[in-house]
Amino acid sequence: MNHEAAGGRPGVLASTRRGEYGVDAPYAPIGFALAALVAAAGAAVVWWNTGRVITPPLIVSLFFVGNTASFLYTTRRGKFTEWARILDALALHGDERVLDIGCGRGAVLTAVARRLRSGRVTGVDLWIARDQSGNARDVTLRNAALEGVAERVAVETGDMRALPFADASFDLVVSSLAIHNLASNADRVRAVGEAWRVLAPGGRLVIADIRATRVYESTLAGLGAAVTRRRLGWRFWWGNPVAGTSLVTASKPAS
Ligand SMILES: C[S@@+](CC[C@H](N)C(=O)[O-])C[C@H]1O[C@@H](n2cnc3c(N)ncnc32)[C@H](O)[C@@H]1O
Repeated sequence: MNHEAAGGRPGVLASTRRGEYGVDAPYAPIGFALAALVAAAGAAVVWWNTGRVITPPLIVSLFFVGNTASFLYTTRRGKFTEWARILDALALHGDERVLDIGCGRGAVLTAVARRLRSGRVTGVDLWIARDQSGNARDVTLRNAALEGVAERVAVETGDMRALPFADASFDLVVSSLAIHNLASNADRVRAVGEAWRVLAPGGRLVIADIRATRVYESTLAGLGAAVTRRRLGWRFWWGNPVAGTSLVTASKPAS
């Protein structure tokens, strides 16, 4: 069973995903590409005046070309591959109640839904377009329909700092690249506390994020979680290794 290339769908290649999931933080690759162009122009001027090819502006330009390529790869493909691995490692039974915090257009939401049978996955989001291009509730619902999982998906509009769900209502809570978007660590701690509140005893919480993952780890440890944190590979770099993604996994004791 090759979930890896399939974004979670056994035997189906990632390129056959039917939904359209946009670009995360779309201003970032545009900024990288503009920086590459400006530096390339500088390299051209230096070459014209001196005849030298390998120059600092050329190296800066190549660096930003690499950042642009890495970012676009991660947002369009690498993120799906890594999440397929993460979800496969969870070995879901298929009957879980799952919450995806900051689900956006549903990249993780629909990958979870493919792994459920009688279970359901709920996405919650505020649909902020600067965080993901074309971000909208209707787009997410359309993606669920295109992927053939609409009957296992629900979508709510809500703020992750005050989740509109009862205590202990989910067996698994996931969040992909969402919590760092909050303005302060105080807000992030609040969001992690909310994720913990809605998690049922014996449940699991899995957060992949680009920043503040040590804050999530220490917050969860303080709440009594068994928690681990590790860096994910190059497929989840947002330009370069410094902008890599880390994974925080926590379990809630069964009461
Ligand atoms: C970079 S996108 C990631 C979306 C999705 N998880 C994925 O991996 O494709 C971050 C998401 O967090 C959402 N978000 C930001 N602040 C939020 C908040 N306070 N409450 C709920 N969602 C929020 C944004 O609207 C956006 O959909």
